[in-house]
Amino acid sequence: MYHDSLIRILAARLADAIAQVTGKTPGEVDPVLRPAGDPKFGDYQCNAAMPLARPLRAKPRDIAQRIVEAARLDDLTEPPKVEGPGFINLRLRREFLADYLRSIRAPRDEPAPDRRGLVRTATPETVVIDYSSPNIAKQMHVGHLRSTIIGDVFARVLAFEGHEVIRQNHVGDWGTQFGMLIMHYAEHPIPAGEDHDQVLAAIENDYRRAQQRFQRDPAFATAARNAVGRLQSGDPEALHIWQTVRAASRRAFLDNYHRLNVLLTDDDVCGESFYNDRLAAVVAELREKLAPGAGAAHDGARVECREDEGAVCIFFYDENGEPRFRKPDGNELPMIVRKSDGAYLYATTDLAALRYRIKELGADRVIYVTDPRQKLHFEMLFAVARAVGWAAEHVRLEHVTFGSVLGNDKRPLKTREGENVKLRELLDEAERRAFELLDQRDRAAADEGRPTEPLSDAEKREIARRVGVAAVKYADLRNDRASDYVFNWDRMLAMQGNTAPYMMYAYARIRSIYRKAADRFGTPDVYAPGVTLRLDTPAERTLALRLARFGETLDAVASELAPHILCGYLYELAAEFMRFYEACPVLKAPDDDTRLSRMRLCDLTARTLRLGLNLLGIETIERM
Ligand code: ARG
Repeated sequence: MYHDSLIRILAARLADAIAQVTGKTPGEVDPVLRPAGDPKFGDYQCNAAMPLARPLRAKPRDIAQRIVEAARLDDLTEPPKVEGPGFINLRLRREFLADYLRSIRAPRDEPAPDRRGLVRTATPETVVIDYSSPNIAKQMHVGHLRSTIIGDVFARVLAFEGHEVIRQNHVGDWGTQFGMLIMHYAEHPIPAGEDHDQVLAAIENDYRRAQQRFQRDPAFATAARNAVGRLQSGDPEALHIWQTVRAASRRAFLDNYHRLNVLLTDDDVCGESFYNDRLAAVVAELREKLAPGAGAAHDGARVECREDEGAVCIFFYDENGEPRFRKPDGNELPMIVRKSDGAYLYATTDLAALRYRIKELGADRVIYVTDPRQKLHFEMLFAVARAVGWAAEHVRLEHVTFGSVLGNDKRPLKTREGENVKLRELLDEAERRAFELLDQRDRAAADEGRPTEPLSDAEKREIARRVGVAAVKYADLRNDRASDYVFNWDRMLAMQGNTAPYMMYAYARIRSIYRKAADRFGTPDVYAPGVTLRLDTPAERTLALRLARFGETLDAVASELAPHILCGYLYELAAEFMRFYEACPVLKAPDDDTRLSRMRLCDLTARTLRLGLNLLGIETIERM
């Protein structure tokens, strides 16, 4: 049985050989193995020989030759070829590829949900993912939307890989702004109602009014500042208003999550207020451990916590003793953790949260998904966590950012009135357009006298719902997350190209091909022990290789935190399936064995598409 990803199986064998050649242990060497750029040269390329030339004082080509001679690969690959300056090109044997895929058992023999034969990682980590994290009393903006969609893919893929994923929705539910809201709602009723989005919109409106009054009415401003103090000391009226606003905001967020088909629930909310009673202790710990002269350094850089003009600040110095961060005016930029009036800040909360995540949740890896404006904040945060000793060497701290969503005018997406686009309106429109698309398609088919699988109106609406949400999400995920992208309805709903409708349609089509063959030939068991995979034609081999690379694709998404790699993979898979289907008839296969083999490839492709799309947070449809 082969469970591990192809690249890991090959890498392990090559590591053994390189260890022999270099006299090291397999764990110490890096086989520098990657998928071949051009299938002409093979399926994978090992580039380990070049960096060994100097330490071994030999020509890279000779080292490559020695690696090839030491390697036991004959059950996996054709004889390896040393080419160019010392590349080792590897082509998988067809028998191995067929065996590898044959080890994927029938869905009925797989634990549910389908893992499609993939094992969990042997080195599971506890991964905290901080994503979505909107602010209460305000509707989510586009940045929160991207964080929600992208962070959710990380949560799904890392959990699938076998890691312990802890989702943390670091909702902004604390801060001086609540003083204004408390004063406002002391005089006005708090909005309520069945429609959670509308309630939140009304609260946001009130918040804006309160802000304006705060600017021009000094008495109101003073009262608002006092209200913050009352809230902190647990005054029942202040507390009640805050709790009501928070609950209303959270209900609206949950509605949004549900509609977006993301995993976040109320249990994942661990908002800023959760850390309130830890802040004083955190600041005390920082002052003690990072006291000037305490020698708290990391990677040659020094981090110091001391009072500056009444505020408690953290200062950062590089190995030359120069300030690491500077303000635009050139002065050094500290991280303030307590203001001179005793108030704590966003940064203080994040310090407490990171400490909690590592020390109490046991995180080995902490991933934050926000827009790039917070880059500096997280750089400082991570530097402090290292210096103070919360984050040991092995703990990975990652700030994952993303580009902006642009309108057709290439400027950040806004409504015609210049407002932020509301998620609900976006999804309503996506659904409406998806429904239209289905209608158009049916009308076109009827005009041309093509038979379609008849769908009821309710079915169509459900399809439109799934396709609409999927189109919006997929259009976001298919791009390298760091780049900006233009939000374009026609492009994201196109039936051709790397879009959700295309992918979902490809899935439904493969299911239908399979159903037809199964009906015609008496529902054969394509996973029966006697069925072998025949990869005789180039199209069959290409499809099989793509299928076999699913595991390593997920590994890459998990390590690079790059959902677009999975989108690209699935798109290639769908395209290669279509080429296979053109070249290799399934219903009219030359003989029973070939047909069963091809039907099995159909089923494996469909399962891969479904699992892959599900990991992107997209629900497939059996008939479209
Ligand atoms: N609420 C913040 C915002 O809207 C995002 C929080 C991100 N997470 C964190 N731990 N700081 O910008």
